Amino acid sequence: METTFDNKIVLVTGASSGIGEAIALLFAKCGAKLSLVGRNEKNLQDVAARCAAEKGIQPFIIVADLSTDEGCEKTAKDTLAHYGRLDVLVNNAGISARTCIQVTDMKIFDDVFNTDVRGVYNLTRLLVPALIESKGNIVNISSISGTVVVVGSLPYGMAKAALDHFTRLVALELAPKGVRVNAVSPGLTVSNIVKRITGYTEEEYQNWLKKGEKTVPMGEVCVGEDIAKMVVHLASDHSRLVTGAIVQVDGGLQFCGGLNIYSEQIK
Ligand SMILES: NC(=O)c1ccc[n+]([C@@H]2O[C@H](COP(=O)([O-])OP(=O)(O)OC[C@H]3O[C@@H](n4cnc5c(N)ncnc54)[C@H](OP(=O)(O)O)[C@@H]3O)[C@@H](O)[C@H]2O)c1
Repeated sequence: METTFDNKIVLVTGASSGIGEAIALLFAKCGAKLSLVGRNEKNLQDVAARCAAEKGIQPFIIVADLSTDEGCEKTAKDTLAHYGRLDVLVNNAGISARTCIQVTDMKIFDDVFNTDVRGVYNLTRLLVPALIESKGNIVNISSISGTVVVVGSLPYGMAKAALDHFTRLVALELAPKGVRVNAVSPGLTVSNIVKRITGYTEEEYQNWLKKGEKTVPMGEVCVGEDIAKMVVHLASDHSRLVTGAIVQVDGGLQFCGGLNIYSEQIK
């Protein structure tokens, strides 16, 4: 069966960088009409231009901070005003942190939870009526940090554990309405997330990735497209009876202590 999203409206949050950018591009290749959300307008425009080059469909761009109520409200309202419907919501936007209980502060906690949990909760709440109407589906981007226990993964790991359970709870609630809810849990994936919290130069990041790669059982870190392929698969009719699933795409990293490289970055 061919994977096509012709005439489907797909909203991707955090589409201005990393994994979200790859998700947007793959949906564009599949013919979707996109709503792309992020804070960096220039990056969003660049990604939108690359998406438009795929099938000639211009994405709709929304500059919004999803850690705020206004940002979530604007995203939901503008998407529905522009397209009049929604078929797929990809909750990808997220920030990380590397800290532990002995050195942490409440700002780190609030920043991570406001974006990775509260923002997802709020945006989903606002868009559920439209998804019920279209019998659409939701894909949340979680992390293996939500299940692997490693020092340095606080409070990010807690936030992703909450997102996993949010996925299961909302999947059960919306199943009778014909709306599916799933999550993809990436392992180590090339993006900007680590550089943002460490301030690593590109060279330092590449060295860190090489170290990380050695800890992955399959010997490779993921690229955004690896995650995007699973997202598109879950959002498509190939997965028509899949709901409440948390699918790891990590080369087996969840089974080992490889994430211990995160402890190096505690600050
Ligand atoms: N890379 C990994 O190894 C990895 C592993 C597991 C899970 N993940 C998850 O994958 C998702 C994407 O992360 P990434 O690795 O691609 O990181 P990234 O390159 O840093 O991209 C993060 C994206 O989220 C957006 N974002 C962050 N906070 C936002 C906010 N308050 N409002 C709106 N947009 C916001 C960013 O927008 P702007 O740049 O425009 O601000 C950016 O587009 C996250 O949920 C992350 O937890 C990543």
